[in-house]
Amino acid sequence: MFDDWIAALERRHLAELTFPELSRALRALSATYVERRGRIGEGSALSGAGKRAAFALFYGPLHYLLVRHIASALPGATAVSAATSTLVDLGCGTGASGAAWASSCAPSPRVLGIDRHPWAVKEAGATYQAFGLSGRGIVGDVAKADFGRKRAAFLAAFTLNELPDAARETLLTRLLDRAAKGDRVLVVEPLAGFVAPWWKKWRAAVESSAGRADEWRIRADLPVIVAKLDRAAGLNHREITGRSLWIPGA
Ligand SMILES: C[S@@+](CC[C@H](N)C(=O)[O-])C[C@H]1O[C@@H](n2cnc3c(N)ncnc32)[C@H](O)[C@@H]1O
Repeated sequence: MFDDWIAALERRHLAELTFPELSRALRALSATYVERRGRIGEGSALSGAGKRAAFALFYGPLHYLLVRHIASALPGATAVSAATSTLVDLGCGTGASGAAWASSCAPSPRVLGIDRHPWAVKEAGATYQAFGLSGRGIVGDVAKADFGRKRAAFLAAFTLNELPDAARETLLTRLLDRAAKGDRVLVVEPLAGFVAPWWKKWRAAVESSAGRADEWRIRADLPVIVAKLDRAAGLNHREITGRSLWIPGA
């Protein structure tokens, strides 16, 4: 399914752009994430067809590979009970991370992806379909979205660092509250400290809610298009890294 998903992404996104255009867009996108972080809040990361295609074809598969590894390595993370038959993917982007976790579970939970960007929500729908998941995306702000009352597993992969401080604080309180009622919470962020200066605080809060923090460095076989883009844009993802916070819930 992963290979078919990558092939479908290539068909969709490479049809509109040449490879050099795509690799230039990937450089611009990576610079936004590292050097121009202040503009992410204005939606600059996903502005323009080139950056969107670069996000879908490059970062999406990398996030998928990392989250799939994390989900299989954290004890119990792939065991979905009836009580957590819904996975809420906060800031779902193209749906890559949510699909990675959901498709590692047996049976797979329903996925509800929430993202402020309509393009991302549409892509997420296509990703869930590619993995045979029952899921849908909705446009919304994760800090304000109604999570419903049913028990759920919450995923926030590479999303929290894009939120304003106040919104992230609100979300922390909401997620801890849900975890105290038995919900599962998985947060994934890059290792680089400057991306998430709030990590220590979240880590302490998660650890005092029976959760754990981990750092990950994995070597994965990258899809050909991802490895090609990695080289062309002068990046180096032979090792995929990240860190996570996990509360297993009831
Ligand atoms: C770096 S992407 C990560 C996407 C996905 N979770 C993944 O792992 O590939 C961050 C996503 O968060 C979304 N986002 C940022 N702030 C948001 C907010 N307040 N509400 C909803 N989505 C938000 C962005 O639109 C973007 O799609």
